[in-house]
Amino acid sequence: MPDGRFISLEGGEGVGKTTQLRALATELGKRGIEVVTTREPGGSPGAEAIRGLLLSGEDGRWSPRAEALLFAAARADHVEKTIRPALDAGKWVISDRFLDSSLAYQGGGTDLGVDAVRGLHRFGSAGFLPDRTLVLLLPDRAGVARANERDGDEPDRIGRRDADYHLAVDRAFRALGAEEPERVRLVDASGEQRQVTERLLAELADLLP
Ligand code: TYD
Repeated sequence: MPDGRFISLEGGEGVGKTTQLRALATELGKRGIEVVTTREPGGSPGAEAIRGLLLSGEDGRWSPRAEALLFAAARADHVEKTIRPALDAGKWVISDRFLDSSLAYQGGGTDLGVDAVRGLHRFGSAGFLPDRTLVLLLPDRAGVARANERDGDEPDRIGRRDADYHLAVDRAFRALGAEEPERVRLVDASGEQRQVTERLLAELADLLP
């Protein structure tokens, strides 16, 4: 049986992540790879229930610590119930967001810091990491932050946070790419949709069968 691979797709709001996830799954399928797509927060029945708690309600509904724990708890269930079984069956899993979202949003975006969030992941999911993480980034960070503030299609509890928060998240993603260049690849999300998909595929070239 071929080895399964776990890929996560990351980025701030409004970078076309969900469209690219679909395109990537199609391209891998054409190469004969069996692909399971999933998302966070969510991806298993228990984690989807926690998603509802995380994304609705007032911004101050959870303290930064409680919020980080809820994301870690959802992830633990997602890994155990959905991701590991698919990998064990030789499939590829592509997740719309994973740990690096928590590192950037809960770690980089608040005073908690990235190391505290890594600690929660060590406990919750035994430190389980993607084989590769693709972070979609737009060059005009301030523009992205402004777009996030202009509530487009009903942003969720976290998407509604101010431009400074989203700039800190963007900075944190870039820092993760610099810290872990082998796993975390920063990908330019500007230009034609097709070009962006090609850039993503290029970052997976060494993993393809
Ligand atoms: P998502 O459903 O991917 O929304 P979007 O289409 O805006 O990317 O994610 C929901 C929100 O949850 C998004 O604002 C990012 C946030 N989030 C975190 O803050 N930490 C996490 O660990 C994850 C997975 C998501």
